[in-house]
Amino acid sequence: MHALAADAAFAALTAKIARERGFGASNYRDGCLRRRIGVRMRARGVADFAAYGALLDRDPKEWEPLLDALTINVSKLFRDRDVYAALAKDVVPAVWAMPDAALRVWSAGCASGEEAYSLAALFHRHATARGEADRLARLRVIASDIDRGSLERAQRGAYPERAFTDAPDALRRRYFSPDDPSIVSADLRTLVTFERRDLLRAAPPRCPLQLIACRNVVIYFDAPAQQALFARFHEALQPGGFLVLGKVETLLGAARRLFEAVDHRHRIFRRP
Ligand SMILES: C[S@@+](CC[C@H](N)C(=O)[O-])C[C@H]1O[C@@H](n2cnc3c(N)ncnc32)[C@H](O)[C@@H]1O
Repeated sequence: MHALAADAAFAALTAKIARERGFGASNYRDGCLRRRIGVRMRARGVADFAAYGALLDRDPKEWEPLLDALTINVSKLFRDRDVYAALAKDVVPAVWAMPDAALRVWSAGCASGEEAYSLAALFHRHATARGEADRLARLRVIASDIDRGSLERAQRGAYPERAFTDAPDALRRRYFSPDDPSIVSADLRTLVTFERRDLLRAAPPRCPLQLIACRNVVIYFDAPAQQALFARFHEALQPGGFLVLGKVETLLGAARRLFEAVDHRHRIFRRP
């Protein structure tokens, strides 16, 4: 197909995805979207974007694998365990020591809840080690994602063996059942609330936040969308609050002036 016609067909397909499934593809990096849609096109033996759009009409079951491919919701408990080690050492104690009556931690782009439960485990362990389990009632981990299927899995909190390859044994034993799939303990479950939220369209949770984790998510967004999101994160964090981007992403452009770096390696920042 001619390149211009292919571009027009791609634009028509992404508009269709936004219109019919509320996935606003316009702020995602083009190359990334084309690759992900290409995976589904090859799986269905379809050669061009227009034909794939027609296939979605003919076979609506294709929407589910397509949205799965677009949202890339792979995660793990304690993914990149050195990031969690850095959080446990410096960030969790600092947040826990904040005098606020309510502590709010946001796992933004939480996939199936792995990051949210992992953060909850760090706080639970810290509080109980200090003999302050009774103060856990002031903590809430708000976990959000755009993908409904992921959120349903997150609510179930049952994880297969492969989700634990980064998990320290002691934390796994303490907070997850030994079964397969392994179920998250009630201690953590009560600390986490899941909700659907599109990071590109919806405002952050309204309460002041002390910690935002947004890892392996913004990499799919174009630069203006990343900038706008970081500005919203800055506004949502209370002064002194932390932002962790993890090992893949970092702050771009003007957003760098909004935060100070606390840990370069693990991309942990703080709102001054
Ligand atoms: C690779 S997972 C990252 C999960 C977890 N943060 C981690 O690091 O393991 C990316 C997640 O971002 C979510 N996502 C993509 N676009 C989003 C958007 N516009 N709003 C909210 N979540 C989004 C996807 O659904 C997916 O679950």
